Amino acid sequence: MALYLITGAAGFIGSHLVHTLIQRGDDVRALDNFSTGRRENLANLEKQLDLREVDLRDSIGVLNACVGVDFILHQGALPSVPRSVSEPRPSHETNIDGTFNLLEGARAAGVKRIVYAASSSAYGNQPGFPRVESMKPQPIAPYPVQKLAGELYMQSYWQVYGLETVCLRYFNIFGPRQVADSPYSGVMARFILQMMRGEQPVINGDGEQGRDFTYVENAVQANLRACAASAEKVAGRVFNVACGERHTLNETYEILARLLGYPHPPQYGPDRAGDVRDSLADISAAHKAMNYVPHIGFEEGLRRTVEWYQAEFSASFHKQDGAT
Ligand code: UD1
Repeated sequence: MALYLITGAAGFIGSHLVHTLIQRGDDVRALDNFSTGRRENLANLEKQLDLREVDLRDSIGVLNACVGVDFILHQGALPSVPRSVSEPRPSHETNIDGTFNLLEGARAAGVKRIVYAASSSAYGNQPGFPRVESMKPQPIAPYPVQKLAGELYMQSYWQVYGLETVCLRYFNIFGPRQVADSPYSGVMARFILQMMRGEQPVINGDGEQGRDFTYVENAVQANLRACAASAEKVAGRVFNVACGERHTLNETYEILARLLGYPHPPQYGPDRAGDVRDSLADISAAHKAMNYVPHIGFEEGLRRTVEWYQAEFSASFHKQDGAT
């Protein structure tokens, strides 16, 4: 049986990968420093996991974690475009140095393949939609620069050392367990929590910016397919992981408000520094190379996400209620 190492295992996407692999019966080693990841995301799995509290900047801890591993799913990062704008150094160190440590660990330990969580933000604001992997990246903020540097390192380790690497450019992944209560939270989780609390979400700019919002289960599928595909088809390559549809923030707000019965119209604020205006992916390369198909569409994803936050919110509300 294969041993999978998941970095950022207690985070949003990492924890979905852990749950799926454990359910499938695979062996999982889970790495997290719990800076943004949460222990409750791995609740009840402790006995089935080799869980290690390791920071990606700790090269020795990372190297030890790579020993005996077949596949690495590298989700660990200090995320968020705006966080990297206000504080570029911590995200630089985790996202670039941490990725380098992992590649060095994987090389030394003879790991078979690394699948890397890259970012669609690497495309920047250049003209031309949908985004195709052959376009020249034009990252704007530090975070997309860091994520792109990771991609280049992945490709280098394939070409120079023959370590099989696959880069998945995620397009605005959303779903259960995404952190909702941080100023750096993704827009979907943030708006859902704000609406449930009766607070007023703020749309940055005119709300006509669009994103290729992608439900997390599609990203999980892409990772598993990237591990299973033959090296000839995927090694050293970059793939968009998205739905291939663009939805504006105004439209997203409207659907969420309807699902949650939230009566108020949006409030509009200034544009956010470092934001890209639009994002829409061509997903044919991932389809062709590894038969990736986004099974869960935008509205179905929103419905499942809202349901999950409602259940969580009411559980924590009842807990607080009982405690007082
Ligand atoms: C997101 C990811 C990033 C990923 C990128 C890929 C998060 C936190 N960030 O960045 O890791 O690399 O997609 O494209 O998931 N907005 C509001 N009001 C708010 C919050 C956000 O209007 O309260 C707007 C933003 O200004 C932006 C849009 O919503 O226009 C999406 O923002 P966000 O969810 O932070 O994602 P990205 O910056 O697109």
